[in-house]
Amino acid sequence: DKGEYRHYMLKEIYEQPAVITNVLEGRIHQGQVLEQIFGSNASELFDQVKMVQIVACGTSYNAGVVARYWIEKLAGIPCMVEVASEFRYRATVCMPGTLFITISQSGETADTLSALREAKEQDYLGFLSICNVPGSSLVRESDLSLMTNAGPEIGVASTKAFTSQLVALMLTALILARRNGYAEEEQMVANLQQLSALCEQVLALDPAIQKMAEHFVDKHHTLFLGRGTIYPVAVEGALKLKEISYIHAEAYPAGELKHGPLALVDEDMPIVAVAPNNSLLEKLLANLEEVRARGGKLFLFADSKAQVKPGDDLELITLPDVPTVMAPIIYSIPLQLLAYYVAVLKGTDVDQPRNLAKSVTVE
Ligand code: F6R
Repeated sequence: DKGEYRHYMLKEIYEQPAVITNVLEGRIHQGQVLEQIFGSNASELFDQVKMVQIVACGTSYNAGVVARYWIEKLAGIPCMVEVASEFRYRATVCMPGTLFITISQSGETADTLSALREAKEQDYLGFLSICNVPGSSLVRESDLSLMTNAGPEIGVASTKAFTSQLVALMLTALILARRNGYAEEEQMVANLQQLSALCEQVLALDPAIQKMAEHFVDKHHTLFLGRGTIYPVAVEGALKLKEISYIHAEAYPAGELKHGPLALVDEDMPIVAVAPNNSLLEKLLANLEEVRARGGKLFLFADSKAQVKPGDDLELITLPDVPTVMAPIIYSIPLQLLAYYVAVLKGTDVDQPRNLAKSVTVE
């Protein structure tokens, strides 16, 4: 039931503060992530992890790319991420001590499931699934699982499933980080506990984002830019826009602009830049100047740290200041809303975009 909402997608976007609370529910005790939430033999397995291989598709893959940054930074172990449809057909090399993680909303995605089955023929240390559907094939065939508890997701475009995956992946990163002498778990858990309230604040930007969407309706191409952990957020924002508004959207790590895509920039291609305060902000802002100097129109999502003046060539949505590590979760939300409102203005079938299925159970 959509309730007061016009589409399931909007309802699911608005459910995110509650969903984030749900993912954390029963998973934390006295500022620490509980290990048994992954399964009874989890601790023993986690003790032996020397490397992580993540495999997933689509939005779930984008969550995996964010997790790579977290796992390498907090846990100090190498992490690789690959789309399942490539991984399953490649002669992959399994290093000793590698934990194999699949991420899936449905737990029934054919490519992800086949990748897991292929991997089980190799010497992986163990198999963990991050999944939203209890009892799904992926969960049943994995040694360990962490449910994302986002509730049923009806809209084909994944929203709340994505943010819940990110929270679950952060819990996983913290469990691994603990074994690397990571000392800030309590602080990170406190950050997670404040996340739901921050999401509420970001949802309040809805009217401004709805207004911004008007600039995209008659456009055919868009570019999404981010750097570091925000690069996969830009990729996810571009995926949302293309799948429900049918506008071509491409994401680039902003430092790559000068290696090609800068040639595309003109006043007819809106450029969405995601720029929370982090160690790469100055570099990103310099990249944006390159775009501006070539007549590109910028749509910037940033906080108080980005000292930019809105004008004819720059529209700004200001988000609250948030802990750097939480920014990928929080900045995903305005991009979901942007895609949603562009699609609504274009009159597309938001919950059932053409050519797409909610669960891709065929290759
Ligand atoms: C995009 C989207 C898809 C899915 C992908 C994987 O909004 O929903 O890209 O993320 O088909 O599905 P799951 O997560 O069910 O394995």
